[in-house]
Amino acid sequence: GGYDDMVIAKTQVRTRVEADNAQREKKISQLQDFIARFSAGTRASQVMSRKKEVERLQTTELARSNIQRPYIRFAMNRPSGRVALKATGISKAFGDLKVVTNFDALVNRGEKIVLVGRNGLGKTTMLKALLSDAPNLPPSPGDIDAGTVKWGHEVSIGYFAQDHTGVIRKGMTAVAWLHQFDPDASRQDIHGLLGQMLFSGEEGLKPTEALSGGETARLLFCRIMLQKPNVIVLDEPTNHLDLESINALNIALQKYDGTVFLVTHDEDLMEEVGTRVWHFDGRTIQDFKGTYDEYTASLV
Ligand SMILES: Nc1ncnc2c1ncn2[C@@H]1O[C@H](COP(=O)(O)OP(=O)(O)O)[C@@H](O)[C@H]1O
Ligand SMILES: [Mg+2]
Repeated sequence: GGYDDMVIAKTQVRTRVEADNAQREKKISQLQDFIARFSAGTRASQVMSRKKEVERLQTTELARSNIQRPYIRFAMNRPSGRVALKATGISKAFGDLKVVTNFDALVNRGEKIVLVGRNGLGKTTMLKALLSDAPNLPPSPGDIDAGTVKWGHEVSIGYFAQDHTGVIRKGMTAVAWLHQFDPDASRQDIHGLLGQMLFSGEEGLKPTEALSGGETARLLFCRIMLQKPNVIVLDEPTNHLDLESINALNIALQKYDGTVFLVTHDEDLMEEVGTRVWHFDGRTIQDFKGTYDEYTASLV
């Protein structure tokens, strides 16, 4: 269960920190051996530079052990059917502005699609159209003008919208907000998840209306980790995340066995997570089955 996962997560973080520290200790002791052997001799400048290196390693060790890293892991309750999504003739316009026109796609379970392109070209509009009638999300028929979207057998979706306004209900604690998505989870599970996303015990008791943008984003990741969906849809998830969190997200998405739709401008995420690219250029949407690097290479 979630508590076991949390223990594993904490153990993994600790193991990594310990491995880093062990390596550093070894390096320091090698340098100190050298210093001890030659400090009385003629190699003064080499001894001096090694003393400086020891100092540097000792201070980075201190700094590093103070860095808090989030631990993101996306599991799924059960896999979806082989086809995750079949979309046919999807169209959406705002007045005269045709944003998505007659788009077709078949997405297999496990594909990781990165939606790329400049702002305002329709990435969010596309995701909203695909999610306008989707499992475990409220229907929003206004987000699609025409076309059919068929989500696959047993699909369950975790959605991180670009606009978080109104997503987190006000007037409750972060803990209580999260708990409602799995009432069977224990308080330990909930606190464990919040801890993974670097909420301290007290921060978990913060009223939801007082959450910063970054805290809101981290809480939304907690929800997806709790829900264990087999399709994850993330619309610009990195906007409120620091580098450590972006790295954690990158690794979590690479390891995830489900299907991913990801809008991002982060080139590492695009390249390292994506197995398929939907490129929005303002006129068309290119559907390329390969990595982002393969896609850009195919253009020249
Ligand atoms: N609710 C809306 N009403 C009118 N125009 C909209 C609305 N939402 C988006 N648009 C327009 O549709 C286009 C695509 O927007 P969007 O899908 O948000 O782009 P992206 O996510 O790629 O940045 C933009 O020109 C945007 O101004
Ligand atoms: Mg957008």
